[in-house]
Amino acid sequence: MALKDTIQTLLQQVSGLQAANTEELEALRIKYLSKKGEITALFNEFRNVPADQKRELGQLLNQLRQQTEERINELREKLDESRESREERLDLTRTPDPIALGTRHPLSLVREEIIDIFSRIGFTVAEGPEVEDDKHVYGMLNFAPEHPARDMQDTFFIEKEIGVQKPTDVLLRSHTSSVQTRVMTSQKPPIRVLCPGRVYRNEAISARAHCFFHQVEGLYVDKNVSFADLREALLYFSKEMFGAETKIRLRPSYFPFTEPSAEMDISCNICGGKGCSFCKGTGWVEILGCGMVDPNVLEACGIDSKIYSGYAFGMGVERITNLKYRVKDLRLFSENDVRFLRQFESC
Ligand code: PHE
Repeated sequence: MALKDTIQTLLQQVSGLQAANTEELEALRIKYLSKKGEITALFNEFRNVPADQKRELGQLLNQLRQQTEERINELREKLDESRESREERLDLTRTPDPIALGTRHPLSLVREEIIDIFSRIGFTVAEGPEVEDDKHVYGMLNFAPEHPARDMQDTFFIEKEIGVQKPTDVLLRSHTSSVQTRVMTSQKPPIRVLCPGRVYRNEAISARAHCFFHQVEGLYVDKNVSFADLREALLYFSKEMFGAETKIRLRPSYFPFTEPSAEMDISCNICGGKGCSFCKGTGWVEILGCGMVDPNVLEACGIDSKIYSGYAFGMGVERITNLKYRVKDLRLFSENDVRFLRQFESC
């Protein structure tokens, strides 16, 4: 086909070009106008055109290139317009898709419930550091220097220089009684505080033990605080937490920081005290340790033990949660499995 005819056909073709999207448009640009495009090829051919036709064909060719460029620009504008109108149709005031809200962690639920119950009888919350020193965790709490709790088997010590294992007195607190020593050294009685928080012990992880868990400990120091006050407060707590029919029993025990000390059981809330597999047939389950604050502890914290006395108690939040919600494996609490966590949605 003579060059002139080719140009004429292309001129017609070009005026009817269409593109549904930017990719198609780009394909057209490449087809006609790129270095290897059809129109560029015609310009190459034009070099061989006899001189007498050059003027006419040159004009035609330029017209073709111009019209193609115009058509492609036109199509680009059209596409831009339709995109803009689509964006205009976007309703930015529309309510967004619902966001899936998480649920409160069962340990948080129970911790809050414990705090709520004790706050009704005047307790406030005190918090302290998880990375502690020996003095606040053991020393001021009347632990003998060689007490086994200080052993590496039970306590996580923190190396002062990374990789260098030297004896150190920096450790992860193994109970929140450390917060009690901090409160007693910084406040004057009457003191009535709850110390909730995470604690760490060097235990092998299993369904029944973990290397960290949560506690709520309590401390009351005032004039004339008696063991009867302690018993009454704990009975009140147990009934509020596990139901009005709950009974408690105190068994003698030992803690370095309390004297006398006791372990408290509640009547098994699963079988109602009749005896079941959960309470191993005894009808009782242990839930906390408690006692009267040892005068040595009061003195170590700068409180005159001749004027003041106090009681203290400490419980594991996991244990209370297990009793309330029958969670069989402690590891579930820290695995972050939403199938487990969602079950507490309505609690
Ligand atoms: N600190 C004790 C523990 O972690 C609990 C406790 C607190 C016992 C206060 C008696 C009095 O096991």
